[in-house]
Amino acid sequence: MKKMDPCTLIFFGAGGNLSRKKLIPALYHLETLQRLPDHLVILGCDIGQYERDAWLTVVRDILREKHGTKIDEIALERFCARLHYFAVPIGDDDAYGRLGVLLNKDPTFPPNAVFYMAVRPADYPGIVAKLGEAGLLKQQNGWRRVVIEKPFGYDLLSAQTLQASLYRHLDEPQIFRIDHYLGKGTVQNIMVFRFANLLLEPLWNNHYIDHVQITHSETMGVENRADYYEGAGALRDMIQSHLLQLMALVAMEPPVSMAAEHLRDEKVKVLKSIRPITQNAVHAHAFRGQYASGTIDGKSVPGYLEEKNVAQDSVTETYAAMKLFVDNWRWAGVPFYLRTGKRMPENSSAICIRFKAPPKDLLRHTRQGPPPPNWIMLGIQPNDCLKMELQVKVPGLDVQTRAISLDATYRKHGEEDFDAYEGLLLDVMNGDHSLFLRIDEVEAAWRVVDPVLKVWAMERDLINTYPAGSWGPRGTYRLFDREDQFWRHSLNLDGAKIEAY
Ligand code: BG6
Repeated sequence: MKKMDPCTLIFFGAGGNLSRKKLIPALYHLETLQRLPDHLVILGCDIGQYERDAWLTVVRDILREKHGTKIDEIALERFCARLHYFAVPIGDDDAYGRLGVLLNKDPTFPPNAVFYMAVRPADYPGIVAKLGEAGLLKQQNGWRRVVIEKPFGYDLLSAQTLQASLYRHLDEPQIFRIDHYLGKGTVQNIMVFRFANLLLEPLWNNHYIDHVQITHSETMGVENRADYYEGAGALRDMIQSHLLQLMALVAMEPPVSMAAEHLRDEKVKVLKSIRPITQNAVHAHAFRGQYASGTIDGKSVPGYLEEKNVAQDSVTETYAAMKLFVDNWRWAGVPFYLRTGKRMPENSSAICIRFKAPPKDLLRHTRQGPPPPNWIMLGIQPNDCLKMELQVKVPGLDVQTRAISLDATYRKHGEEDFDAYEGLLLDVMNGDHSLFLRIDEVEAAWRVVDPVLKVWAMERDLINTYPAGSWGPRGTYRLFDREDQFWRHSLNLDGAKIEAY
C-alpha cells in the first residue's frame, strides 16, 4: 500500500445530505479498515454553528444510526479524534480569511488540503472564488485539490462557464470532477473483463454485436430532492453523467496503459465519436416520461406531480431513453440504447450486450421462430454478476436446443466491495485522476445530450406518463431499430424473451 501524504480534508456542506449519507460513512468505513492516512484531519464546514463536541455528537449519531450495535467503538473514537468543525455563515466572507489563518497557522492541520464541494452546484463557483481570494488554493507549502460533485453545469455553456470560473483559481491537475459510478467496483470490472480476457476482443465490434443496452432503474421516486430534480430531470441526472460513462467504458479502445490520461483519452474519443443528434432527429433518438401514481412492492405511491416541491405543470422527465451511435470503425451501425427511470419495478443497473445471429441458421428445423441470440450481461447493482447466454442441445434423441446462462459472478463468498466514495476519496488524497472526469469528457457528454434538452425544453406540452411500478412509457419502443429488438428487463434466462409490459 502506498504511503499517503498527511492531509486536511475540508468538506463544505458537512451537514448536508451527501455528507451524511455518503462521505461520513465512507470515511468511517475506511477508518475501520485502517485505510486512512495516519495524519488525516477532517474539517467539516457548513453554515450552522457547532462547537467541536456538538459536531462530534452529530457525526456519532449519523454513524450509530447506520451501524447500530455493529459500530466499531474503537474505530469510531479514532475517527472522531480526526474531526473538527468550522462555521461559514451565509454572507460572512471574512470566514474564508479566518479559515486561511486556521489552516496556515494551526499545526493541527496538515498543509496538503482537499476541499470537497458537497454543496448545491450553484455554490461551487462562489466558494472556489472565495478560497482563491483568501490564497487557500495556492500550492506553496503543500498541494491543494478541489473536488467538484456532479452535475458539472446544466448544459454545455454553463459547464464551460463553471470551468472558466474554476480556472481563475485552479490548474486542471488540482480539479477532481467526481462521477461516483466510476468508483463502483462493478464498473471498474468492465475494464478488467474487457482488457484481461483476450477471448472477447475479436467479438467486441460491429461484426458480432447487434446492439448494447445500458439500464439504470430505481424504485425510489424523487424523494426530498425536487428542488434539484425539477431543474435537472433524468437525462441530465443519470444519462449525461453515469450512463454515458458506462457506455464509454464498454465502447472505448484499449488504452495505452491504465494511467489516468491514457484512460481518459480513450473515453473522450468515444464520447466525441457519438453521432450528433440533429434537432429534427430528436424524437427518433430520445424518449422521455414522467411517473404517474401506481404501486411499488404492493404499496400505492403518488405520481411525480403530487410530490413535495414539484410544480403542478412540471414536464420534468423521470424516465429518459436514448439511442446513440458511435461512428467509428469498431462500432459503426451498432445502436447503444440507454435508459433510466425512477419509480420502476426494480432497482437495477446493468449492461446487456446482444450478439448477432449465426451467419447460417443450420438448426432452423429444430424450432419455430428466429435463432435465439447470445447475450453477455454485466450486472452493476444490486447483483454484481457477469452472465453469458448460449444455446446448447437438450439431452435426448432429437436435436433440440435451449438457452443456458453461464454465471461468472466475480465476487466470492465473504468478499466485500467498497462504497464508490471510499475508493474515490482515497484517490483524491493520492492525487490519482483515473476515475475522475476531465473537462473535455464533460463537454463531450453535454454535446451529446444538449440538442435533446433544447427540443424537450421547447415542447412543454409533450410528456408521456407511466404508472409507478412499470418499466416506463410504452412508446419508448419506437427507439428500436428493428422489431426483434426489445428492452431486456431481467438478467435471468426468461429475460431474453420479448417482455410484455
Ligand atoms: C445520483 C443521482 O447521481 O445517482 C440520483 O442524482 C440517483 O438521482 C443516483 O438516484 C443513483 O446512484 P446509485 O449509486 O444509487 O446507483
